Amino acid sequence: MRAMVYRGPYKVRVEEKDMPPIEHPNDAIVRVTRAAICGSDLHLYHGLMPDTRVGHTFGHEFIGVVEEVGPSVRNLAVGDRVMVPANIYCGSCYFCARGLYSNCHNVNPNATAVGSLYGYSHTTGGYDGGQAEFVRVPFADVGPSLIPEWMDEEDALMCTDALATGYFGAQLGDIVEGDTVIVFGAGPVGLYAAKSAWLMGAGRVIVIDHLDYRLEKARTFAHAETYNFTEYDDIVVQMKKATDFLGADVAIDAVGAEADGSFLQHVTATKLKLQGGSPVALNWAIDSVRKAGTISVMGAYGPVFSAVKFGDAMNKGLTLNMNQTPMKRQWPRLFEHIKAGYLKPNEIITHRIPLEHIAEGYHMFSAKLDNCIKPVIIPGS
Ligand SMILES: NC(=O)c1ccc[n+]([C@@H]2O[C@H](COP(=O)([O-])OP(=O)(O)OC[C@H]3O[C@@H](n4cnc5c(N)ncnc54)[C@H](O)[C@@H]3O)[C@@H](O)[C@H]2O)c1
Ligand SMILES: [Zn+2]
Ligand SMILES: [Zn+2]
Repeated sequence: MRAMVYRGPYKVRVEEKDMPPIEHPNDAIVRVTRAAICGSDLHLYHGLMPDTRVGHTFGHEFIGVVEEVGPSVRNLAVGDRVMVPANIYCGSCYFCARGLYSNCHNVNPNATAVGSLYGYSHTTGGYDGGQAEFVRVPFADVGPSLIPEWMDEEDALMCTDALATGYFGAQLGDIVEGDTVIVFGAGPVGLYAAKSAWLMGAGRVIVIDHLDYRLEKARTFAHAETYNFTEYDDIVVQMKKATDFLGADVAIDAVGAEADGSFLQHVTATKLKLQGGSPVALNWAIDSVRKAGTISVMGAYGPVFSAVKFGDAMNKGLTLNMNQTPMKRQWPRLFEHIKAGYLKPNEIITHRIPLEHIAEGYHMFSAKLDNCIKPVIIPGS
């Protein structure tokens, strides 16, 4: 079969790989019909995720058709159209029993620190991902769901991570009616978080980025107020001015460890590797909320030390909520919102790319070329 493979930082290509076999009675093999590239894949692509091995296939956002099932799979049959959540999880451990699917204890040798995702390096278990013609789906009775008849396939694809994560980001903001919410980052996660914040009662939603075409999308798709941080000496001061000098009630970090905006942080993090990433957006979030406000961190950070303004967070009495998203836990509400027309997830998809051209897709999404917001990959085309 054809599959995307990692060859080293900034190098991916499509290669011939063996078909994934059923390795466990509860596995399924899924023929991928649509996959997507996530901002998280860019951290792998840039070589920033530990233990990303040459030959690994990325891709934790995908939908497809069941090709084969192991002998103990009960909930799926060959030919079913399925959406597969980005997390791999057992469904029955201490954490899964509490809905913490992204913190499953049974699917990754590094499980005390991190759960598991498809195609997300050996740090999260080394499972090959869905940017390929076929993918092995472990715990096939637990993760995948049938795509509802009424649901657009690309809306289903967005539920497998980006939309679920934006929605989760807003949830972890503990938004109460009338709150002012600042979202850092106007990528797919930030756009969905901004849109979801309204659904949770926000009175005002502000989105910050430095890419004007994405801020334009934040205005049209998420009806947000927008600020380009490069246009202000200090975006935090600007946020104070915009919020009666109190600060916002909630801030959502939808940027993560590769944030732009501070040369010093960039050099110490990305170039010198003195810290696990550049926490510029997280620090702006800490500084932009009022005392006793809430921060929700959806952006990805490495496990090691970063110069986060933890003292300020402590002294201000902030609540910091964060996690990798337990995707499927969000689905019942997302399905309702999509069916009712409150959410139209596929509106942020900008590119549809054949699998054979995925290297160009990574380059375009990474360098933010051609007004790219969300690239979808089509195997077999
Ligand atoms: N928690 C989870 O389960 C989960 C799931 C999906 C993605 N993520 C993470 O969420 C983050 C966003 O993902 P995405 O797909 O939207 O990525 P993306 O790369 O498309 O978007 C990131 C956006 O942040 C902007 N940005 C950079 N520095 C900034 C700053 N200092 N302030 C404000 N904006 C800034 C960029 O210009 C870009 O538009 C990534 O770190 C990704 O790894 C986490
Ligand atoms: Zn992702
Ligand atoms: Zn589990």
